[in-house]
Amino acid sequence: MKSAVYPGSFDPVTYGHIDIIKRAARMFDQVTVAVLDNKAKTALFSVEERVRMLQKVTEDIPNVRVDSFNGLLVNYAARENLHVAIRGLRAVTDFEYELQIAQTNRLLSKGALDTIFLTTSLQYAYLSSSSVKEIAMFDGDISMCVPPYIEEKIREKLKAGR
Ligand code: PNS
Repeated sequence: MKSAVYPGSFDPVTYGHIDIIKRAARMFDQVTVAVLDNKAKTALFSVEERVRMLQKVTEDIPNVRVDSFNGLLVNYAARENLHVAIRGLRAVTDFEYELQIAQTNRLLSKGALDTIFLTTSLQYAYLSSSSVKEIAMFDGDISMCVPPYIEEKIREKLKAGR
């Protein structure tokens, strides 16, 4: 069985992420979307909330499962017997950072974890979770960035924090 892990912060999941998940799900028998539980970074949504939101927006893709991890991706991947990581590349600006992570992961895992890059669909090339949060914070329109369910969750969260 060909499996892959798609790791990320997903704070929150956007149409750009969903596009990558759908395309990866067509290439692999199983795709594990793995949410990083990074205590050092302040997130808008808790890991549990992010996992639930990802589960909801991927519920119609049977070969996708959602999980969370903390610590190094290579250790999580080894525990789960996953040997391919998927990452999306939006523009050249992503490349240096992504290349560094991919090389580090290959080195740390002694070659057990390779990374495959999918180029983001053009309509999502400038989309990021941080810009979605910023637009929403100033009551801008995020309907082209996230599904209605996620938009509702963002609005609820921002309202609660005001
Ligand atoms: O969505 P993001 O924040 O760009 O995802 C980054 C992520 C989660 C893929 C990356 O930070 C990661 O894998 N972190 C886990 C810690 C780790 O394994 N670091 C070693 C590679 S430098």
